[in-house]
Amino acid sequence: MGFIFTFLKSQLFTRLPYPTSDFSGQTVIITGSNTGLGLEAARHIVRLGAAKVILAVRTIAKGEAAAKDIIQSTNAKKNTIEVWELNLSDYNSVKAFNARVQALDRLDALIQNAGILTSNFSLIEDNESHITINVISSALIGLGVLPKLKETSEAFNVKTRLTFVGSDLLYVAKFKEADMTGKLLDILSEGKDVDMADRYNVSKLLLLYTVREFTARSPLGSQSNVVIDYLTPGACKSDIFRDDMGWLRRAMMSVATFLVARTTEVGSRTLVHAAKPEIENEAHGAFLMDCKVAPGGPNVDSPKGQKQQKQWIEELLPKLESISPGVTKVLL
Ligand SMILES: NC(=O)c1ccc[n+]([C@@H]2O[C@H](COP(=O)([O-])OP(=O)(O)OC[C@H]3O[C@@H](n4cnc5c(N)ncnc54)[C@H](OP(=O)(O)O)[C@@H]3O)[C@@H](O)[C@H]2O)c1
Repeated sequence: MGFIFTFLKSQLFTRLPYPTSDFSGQTVIITGSNTGLGLEAARHIVRLGAAKVILAVRTIAKGEAAAKDIIQSTNAKKNTIEVWELNLSDYNSVKAFNARVQALDRLDALIQNAGILTSNFSLIEDNESHITINVISSALIGLGVLPKLKETSEAFNVKTRLTFVGSDLLYVAKFKEADMTGKLLDILSEGKDVDMADRYNVSKLLLLYTVREFTARSPLGSQSNVVIDYLTPGACKSDIFRDDMGWLRRAMMSVATFLVARTTEVGSRTLVHAAKPEIENEAHGAFLMDCKVAPGGPNVDSPKGQKQQKQWIEELLPKLESISPGVTKVLL
């Protein structure tokens, strides 16, 4: 009941501020920005004067088409936008992307927006697809670019931002896997008796655990002026439900979407807010909903949630090191 009330209040009775922040001179990367929320966030940030906006996408042709569309609608200079390849289903691609970022003159913000929602179980790299794409690759990108964000904040005396796109569905994650015996990563890779209706929610919960841990180990202060935050855009009309989910579920989603969902332009305002140059320090480690700090909910803030976060991080950090040795060194 609590979640339904919060959800409907957010979707139906909340006006999200139209972005007006000044991004001039800044370099911003948005992953998964050939379509949906990422595309609209990129359009805003180009309109707001960024010097360079990098669309990090898995299909270059789709990125080029998105870049053309943004240039046409904003009248920005063509060379404002670059299109880079990034496939979160392939750790080599993620590592190559991270290496490429190190060569930038500056990086003021990265929005880790690319993500999937599917009802089909599959393994990608060596874990279930939501876990690989929405959590492990997201975390690898975050840690991979954090040194560049820190360097930029020092060199240019600015606050830089690392923003993760999550979901308020973490409030309703059942996360039954946490009550089972064994390693979470192993349990989550088991295809038998898996609750795929809960898996996206679990992935976005694990992502918030990850962000909370990163912020605790990269506090704001004399060592760092990088705000790391996590947001939910709310329910938006995008292609996220493109996957086969059966006609009944698809029909229900279509009706629900028609009734309450935001346009991707409106939803994208939450991405721009979380990554804006003047984001408040209180956003560091926060769950942002409707462009404001919101509670993480019982799955995160309760003693059980805290225990689950600890268990998750104890598995995640060695996993990240095994994929990209040295990547966690940037954390305290
Ligand atoms: N729409 C909503 O209601 C909603 C609600 C809460 C949270 N979110 C979150 O918002 C973010 C954006 O979603 P959206 O609604 O804009 O969905 P979308 O229209 O499906 O866009 C998703 C983007 O992620 C990219 N992507 C997916 N898998 C990838 C991979 N393995 N490697 C690289 N890129 C990949 C897609 O690229 P391709 O086009 O090449 O597939 C696309 O650019 C996601 O993290 C989603 O979980 C959405």
